[in-house]
Amino acid sequence: MNNTILPPGYNVFQSIGRTLKQIKDPIGTMEESMRIYNGTYTVNLGLKRLIATQNPGFIEHVLRVNQRNYFKSEMLTEHLGRFLGKGLLTSNGDYWLRQRRLIQPGFHIDRLKDLYLIMKRTIDEFLSKMQTGLNVDVYPLMHSLAFELVINTLFNVTIPGQVRKQLSTFITETQGFVMKDIRQPHKSWWFRLNGELKKNLIYAQEVRTIIKNMIDQRMAAGRQFNDLLDMLLDARYEDSGLGMQEEQIIDEILVLLIAGHETTANALSFTLYLLANHQHELERLRETTKNVGFHESIKNANILAAINESMRLYPPAWISDRVAVDDDVYDQFKIPKDTIIAVFYYGLHRDPRYWNNPLEFKPGRFLNAATEKDKIRAFYPFGSGPRLCIGNNFALAEMTLFLHSFIHMFDIWATGQTPQLKPLVTLRPDRVLLKIKSRE
Ligand code: HEM
Repeated sequence: MNNTILPPGYNVFQSIGRTLKQIKDPIGTMEESMRIYNGTYTVNLGLKRLIATQNPGFIEHVLRVNQRNYFKSEMLTEHLGRFLGKGLLTSNGDYWLRQRRLIQPGFHIDRLKDLYLIMKRTIDEFLSKMQTGLNVDVYPLMHSLAFELVINTLFNVTIPGQVRKQLSTFITETQGFVMKDIRQPHKSWWFRLNGELKKNLIYAQEVRTIIKNMIDQRMAAGRQFNDLLDMLLDARYEDSGLGMQEEQIIDEILVLLIAGHETTANALSFTLYLLANHQHELERLRETTKNVGFHESIKNANILAAINESMRLYPPAWISDRVAVDDDVYDQFKIPKDTIIAVFYYGLHRDPRYWNNPLEFKPGRFLNAATEKDKIRAFYPFGSGPRLCIGNNFALAEMTLFLHSFIHMFDIWATGQTPQLKPLVTLRPDRVLLKIKSRE
C-alpha cells in the first residue's frame, strides 16, 4: 500500500451541489465525474468512502480476480433480506457459496431445455392477446410478460389469478419500499412509525405462506413437473447429500422472482424501443431470421446481437456494489478496508475508449467478434466472476424466444417519445410508447 494513492475525487460535504445533483440525476452526475477523473474516482462520505469505477481492469479485479476480498454491500443484501430471507442475492460468504454450488447446475444450459416449452407457451399466449394501436406503452406489457415467464417456469401448474396478483404485487411493492428506504435512510424511523415497514413485512409473510402451500401440494403430487421448483426440490448438497430445508427453498424462490423479473422487462422494453427507432435494423433482423425455427432462435446470433446491443446501451443492472473486506491494491490505487466499490456498467458500456460511436445502436458490432474482441470485454450485462447472474442463459433464452416471435408477428414504429430513465435497483424506462400493428 506504500506507494499507492486513493483515486482522485471529492468530498460529499464540500461538494453539496454535486451531492444534490447525484441524488436527482445519478447517471448524469456519475458520467460527469467519470469524465473529470478519467474513469475511477473516490467519494469521501465522512466516516465511509466510496470508489466508483468504469475501468474494466478495476472491475475484473473486484468482481473476479480478487473477488474473495469483496462482499456484496449490506445496503441491498440486508434491506432486501428483511423481505426475501437468505437466498443467493441476499447472502455472502460460505452460506452463499454453498447455495450457489447447489443451485448452479439447475441453470446449466442443458437443464434449461425443459423450460423452453414453458417459455414458448407463455410467450404465445401473451402475443395472442398483444395490445396493438397508436400509443401503446410496452413497459407494463413487458413487465407482465416477464412476471408470467418467471412464475410459469418456477411453477408449471395453473395458479389462480388472485394468487398471481398477490405475488406480483409483493414484488413491485417490496422493490419500491426497499428503494425508498435506501434512498431516504433518515426516514427509516418514520417508515416504522407510519406502518409502511410492518405492512411490507406482513406482505412478505403472506407470500411465504402461499409458496409454502405450493411446495406442500407439489410434495403431495408425487410426480415431476420439470420446472424450477422441481429443480430446487431435487438439488442435493455435495457435502451432505441432503436437500434444502423448506424455508431455504422459499427464500430462493423469492430471490428468483425478484431477480428474474424487472431486469428482463427492462431489457425487452429498451430492445423494442431501439428497434422501433431503427427500422433498417428491425428489417434486417426480420430478413435474417425469417426461416429460423423455435429452438434455433435461442442461439441465433442476429437476435442475440440486437438484445446485447440494447443491454449495452441500457444495462438493466446499471450499477453493482461491493465492500472491501480487507485493504487491497489495484494498479496505483489503494483500496482501504470497508471501502464501498460502485461498478458503473452504464458508463463503461458507453465509454468511447472501448466502443466505436458508443451512442449509436449498431447490433452488428456484436457479430464482428474478431475485431471487437477487446471491446466485448468491456461488456458486463450479467456481471462477472462467481457472482455472475445465475439466470443469464435463462434470460437470454426467454428474450430471444420472445423477440423472434414478436418481430415476425408485429410491426412497430417510434412515436417520437424518448423514455425517461429511472435508475433504481435496476435501470428502467418510465414508459415506452410505440405504434404496434399486426403483420398481415
Ligand atoms: C436481462 C435479464 C437479467 C439481467 C440483465 C441480470 C443481471 C444480473 C447481474 C448483473 C447480476 C450480478 C449482480 C452483482 O454482481 O452484484 C445478477 C445476479 C443474479 N441474477 Fe440476474 N439478470 C437477469 C435475469 C435474471 C433471471 C431471469 C434470473 C432468474 C430466473 C436471475 C437471477 C439472478 C440471481 C439469483 C442473481 C444473484 C446471483 C448470486 O449472487 O449468486 N437474473 N443478475
